[in-house]
Amino acid sequence: MAVTPRALVIGANGQLGYDIVRALRGDGGWEVVPLTHAGIEITDPGTVASVLQAHRPDVVINTAAYHAVDRNDQAAEFFRVNAVGVKILAEATRDAGGILVHFSTDYVFDGSLGRAYHEGDAPNPVNTYGISKLAGELLIRATTPRHYILRVCGLYGVTGCRAKAGMNFVEIMLGKASRGEAIRVVTDQVVSPTYTVDVAEVLVRLLPTDRYGTYHAVNPGPCTWYEFARDIFELSGMVGAVQVLPATSAEVYSSVRRPANSALENRALRAAGLPDLRHRREALAAYLKERGTRRA
Ligand SMILES: NC(=O)c1ccc[n+]([C@@H]2O[C@H](COP(=O)([O-])OP(=O)(O)OC[C@H]3O[C@@H](n4cnc5c(N)ncnc54)[C@H](OP(=O)(O)O)[C@@H]3O)[C@@H](O)[C@H]2O)c1
Repeated sequence: MAVTPRALVIGANGQLGYDIVRALRGDGGWEVVPLTHAGIEITDPGTVASVLQAHRPDVVINTAAYHAVDRNDQAAEFFRVNAVGVKILAEATRDAGGILVHFSTDYVFDGSLGRAYHEGDAPNPVNTYGISKLAGELLIRATTPRHYILRVCGLYGVTGCRAKAGMNFVEIMLGKASRGEAIRVVTDQVVSPTYTVDVAEVLVRLLPTDRYGTYHAVNPGPCTWYEFARDIFELSGMVGAVQVLPATSAEVYSSVRRPANSALENRALRAAGLPDLRHRREALAAYLKERGTRRA
């Protein structure tokens, strides 16, 4: 890598991309080229090639995805962005001599295991989104050995998810509470809710290692969405003021299958000698603090 390595961040105004730009800049050792969708279309080989040619990055960090999970009927769009677009990026990055960082999902697993999934567990996605993200992973592995694939889960960060109209689970819960709406949350999905700031910090530590491969990067402490909702209200000092009612996925979500357990374990990160992420409740408290500071 160059003396001051240059990272191109795709989806820089997205929930995760925003924190990655901040972390790389905060770390001091990186020159960052932040790109929004207006600046790059990953499914267009011509644009991708000219952007890489113009900026000559050492590392290309892709947070872009089509992740409207409930649009199970949109197979072409899922594959256009999450598989074909990712392959275009992988080829262009390889040909330019760079390293590709890509974000994948807990939804590559089917949810049948009785524990958190580690990187050695076999993927078996149960919906079109998960299938397309697994295809993206496979295409990267077949295209360039110089890659990091980070699987994340249940992201929340201060900019909110662009694919969810700027919302995330924490904001949806707090919004419902502020409007006095009934809050029904599923007890039949175990997940690893994760603060985007912590994923970005892991990436900053991982990049200089050159230990390419696939990593899970989540806040430890698997829980159901129901338990996480209770955490949110407890840590926001709203216990007693808000009633969270248990629900099933069939009652709350569309018919698109979701894994019953997609909690992840950060086994590969620990094996690489990197510190684990903080516990989910500590991360949530940090998010609520950052959110409060921004609002003030
Ligand atoms: N959010 C979660 O809970 C979650 C869970 C597991 C895994 N992940 C993965 O984590 C990654 C980041 O998620 P996020 O929450 O940060 O998403 P996000 O807020 O929706 O950000 C995605 C960014 O990518 C851009 N983008 C979308 N399609 C693009 C394309 N074809 N070409 C170039 N840019 C494009 C979007 O721009 P526009 O909005 O302007 O189109 C946006 O800036 C994704 O890979 C996702 O699959 C997310």
